[in-house]
Amino acid sequence: MLTLDAALRHYPLPRLEARMLLQHAVAGLSHARIIADPDLTLSETQSACFCALAERRLAGEPMAYLIGEREFFGRPFRVTPAVLIPRPETEHLVETALARLGGGPAQVVDLGTGSGAIAVTLALEAPAWRVSAVDLSAEALAVACGNAEALGADVAFHQGSWYAPLAEACFDLIASNPPYIRHDDHHLGEGDVRFEPRMALTDEADGLDCLREIAGGAPSRLRPGGWLMVEHGYDQGPAVRELFLATGLSEVETVLDLAGLDRITVGRKPLADAAP
Ligand SMILES: C[S@@+](CC[C@H](N)C(=O)[O-])C[C@H]1O[C@@H](n2cnc3c(N)ncnc32)[C@H](O)[C@@H]1O
Repeated sequence: MLTLDAALRHYPLPRLEARMLLQHAVAGLSHARIIADPDLTLSETQSACFCALAERRLAGEPMAYLIGEREFFGRPFRVTPAVLIPRPETEHLVETALARLGGGPAQVVDLGTGSGAIAVTLALEAPAWRVSAVDLSAEALAVACGNAEALGADVAFHQGSWYAPLAEACFDLIASNPPYIRHDDHHLGEGDVRFEPRMALTDEADGLDCLREIAGGAPSRLRPGGWLMVEHGYDQGPAVRELFLATGLSEVETVLDLAGLDRITVGRKPLADAAP
């Protein structure tokens, strides 16, 4: 059986990852205890659990799936292999939405909600907003519902494809981080992405199919003055701006991420024409 110190050294893992896996395997084990009591011996069950996690990590499984959690906008979201692991870039979408709409009453929808990271965060950050969320995957929606409940967010969840389950509802904000990776992009076969649901990553086409569908449907689903905001790939800014302009949206612009790359494109349904 392993001591805490031996467990941390047993596998060629970054120390932070080894520590997080150890803390996941040993309920209630604090960082302070690991430092103060390195000779503490793990039970057989704890050792076996830690070794299994460490071996899965060495085989490439994402840390977030192994420990079942990822932080987004300062809150812990439960994640399973049924959902995309929320990314820091997506926090820009939340910040942009909050900045453009302000906190007053608004009808909001998150298309392709996955873990619920966007919808739940918006509902908590702007309590006056009525937030709905859609996903095609029933498994993803189960995770999102659990996150909303655990974090105390009031979100109405719907299963279906993009606008289809929303009846005739119209919105002040349509937010989406859809699958936008090209079907033949090499990233699909690399790193953490290999373990994420393919339907969360790629449209199985040129990467713009879902963005086309979401942008195309937006004018009839936005209230006058309402916003469409989508996340997209670093090289898709010009194409997404063109899609937005082609559907008649105004105030179209792309917001950069922290790396200075095109990441979020926004557009607004014009207010009704001024009287002549
Ligand atoms: C890139 S993930 C985004 C997840 C989450 N919003 C986030 O930002 O972390 C895209 C999500 O879209 C969902 N999706 C894919 N095709 C869809 C469709 N036709 N209609 C609704 N959701 C869809 C996937 O199941 C996945 O949860």
